[in-house]
Amino acid sequence: MTKGKFITLEGIDGAGKSTHLAWLAERIMASGREVVTTREPGGTPLGEQLREILLRKGMHADTEVLLMFAARAEHVRNLIAPAIAAGKWVVSDRFTDATYAYQCGGRGIDAERIAQLEAWVHGDLQPDATLLFDAPLDLARDRVAQGTADPDKFEREQAAFFARVRGNYLARAAASRGRIRVIDSSQPIANIRTALTAHLEALLK
Ligand code: TMP
Repeated sequence: MTKGKFITLEGIDGAGKSTHLAWLAERIMASGREVVTTREPGGTPLGEQLREILLRKGMHADTEVLLMFAARAEHVRNLIAPAIAAGKWVVSDRFTDATYAYQCGGRGIDAERIAQLEAWVHGDLQPDATLLFDAPLDLARDRVAQGTADPDKFEREQAAFFARVRGNYLARAAASRGRIRVIDSSQPIANIRTALTAHLEALLK
């Protein structure tokens, strides 16, 4: 059986990635592939419980990074890896790039620590492609302010935090040798979809 592909969507809060997830999944299905959509933190029953804790409770930055990877271990072993092995395409709203961006860039956790956890939890599994939705900080923050009645712990962070998160994402994209593709999400939706279609066609070949 041909293995499926693993695609992740990333970006700072308010960059608009979640708007495009269902559309992308439909496009992949239309090409005849089976698709599983999921998210992090979350994606499994235990992962969703950990998500509630991670997004709502205050905790030490070390605890936060460890819980992110605990949720990810469940997600990779119980959902992502079996689906890919069964030939399905998995589209995940966030994955380990978010831990580098938020916990290393945002919180200041040493990147080497994250790399060790990454090697343990999914050393043999990496996204085939990552779509990084990027928007200027002011635009992203306005979108969060307008679209979120009850902001979570991350959405309440200051602009300087998101500037570091965004900087980390863009640096990772530049160093990723093509895996991370930056989408300018300040463009009109039609233009974003044109860009997404081009990336998808390359993956579907
Ligand atoms: P969401 O708002 O895109 O659903 O993501 C939930 C929040 O969790 C978002 O603010 C980013 C944060 N997050 C991290 O800080 N580290 C991670 O590893 C992941 C997956 C998410």
